[in-house]
Amino acid sequence: MLNIFKKWRGSPDLSNEQIINQEELLKGEIPNHIAIIMDGNGRWAKKRALPRIAGHHEGMKVVRRVTKQANALGVNALTLYAFSTENWKRPKVEVDYLMKLPEEFLTTFLPELIEENVQVRVMGDKNKLPIHTLKAVNKAIEETKDNDGLILNFALNYGSRTEIIAAVKDIVKQVESGKLKKEEIDEGIFSNYLMTQTLPDPDLLIRTSGEIRLSNFMLWQLAYTEFWFTDVLWPDFNEQCLLQAIHTYQHRGRRFGGV
Ligand code: FPP
Repeated sequence: MLNIFKKWRGSPDLSNEQIINQEELLKGEIPNHIAIIMDGNGRWAKKRALPRIAGHHEGMKVVRRVTKQANALGVNALTLYAFSTENWKRPKVEVDYLMKLPEEFLTTFLPELIEENVQVRVMGDKNKLPIHTLKAVNKAIEETKDNDGLILNFALNYGSRTEIIAAVKDIVKQVESGKLKKEEIDEGIFSNYLMTQTLPDPDLLIRTSGEIRLSNFMLWQLAYTEFWFTDVLWPDFNEQCLLQAIHTYQHRGRRFGGV
C-alpha cells in the first residue's frame, strides 16, 4: 500500500503520516459535502522555474482526480474555490488563463463527467465571466443537470461577503413587497437566499499550501464545518491526501455547540 502511494506521480512525503487504507476509511462516515480552497499553484510553478499558469494547469489535472475519487468514495457534493471575486486583481495574463481553464476542463472532461453521473454547478457572479467561459459552464450545467451522482460545484467569481450582501438585499425586497414577513426570517430562510441554496453546508473544508485562512470563502456555510489544513501545494495533492483529510474528519467529535 505504502509503495503504491509513494510512487503516485511524485506524491508529497507522507512518511510521518499514517497511510490510510481506502477500504478501512469506507467503514466510517464519509463527509456529505467537502469544500476545497485549492491553493499553492503559483508556488508549485515557481519551485520548478515555470510560469504561474503552469501551476494552474497542473492544478486542473488534480481537480479531475479529486472529482473521480470523491465520487467513488460516495461524497455527495464537492465545492472547489476556482476563482474569487478578488482574483481579478492578478496580472491580466493570469486572469485570462484562469478564465480559460474551466473551458478546457469542461471541454476535455465533460463526456467523462457525464459517464460518471456527475452534476456540474457553478456558484458566483456568472455575469462578469468572459463569454467563452460562460458558454462552456452553461453547457456543462445543462448537460449534467439530471445527473444524480456527485455535485461538482465550482466557485467561480465567488466572494462570500458579496453573496451575503446580495442575500440581504433580496430578503429586504421580499419583505418590502410583502412576500416575506420580517418575523419569518431565520437561519433556514437566510440560507435559501445564498448561492448554495439546495446544498447542505460543507462537513469538511480542506485548504492546501499551508495558508490558514478562509479568504472570503463560504463564511456563512462553514459555521460548523471541520477544517483540515495541509502544507501540500494543490498540484501535489493526491488521493492519499484526500484520504488523510477524511480520516482526520472521522476522528473529530462534532458537537454543533452541544455536549
Ligand atoms: C490559488 O493558488 C489558486 C487559484 C486562484 C486558482 C485555482 C484554480 C485551479 C486549481 C484550477 C481550476 C480548475 C478548473 C477546472 C476550474 P495561487 O495561484 O494563489 O498559488 P500561490 O499562492 O502559490 O501563488
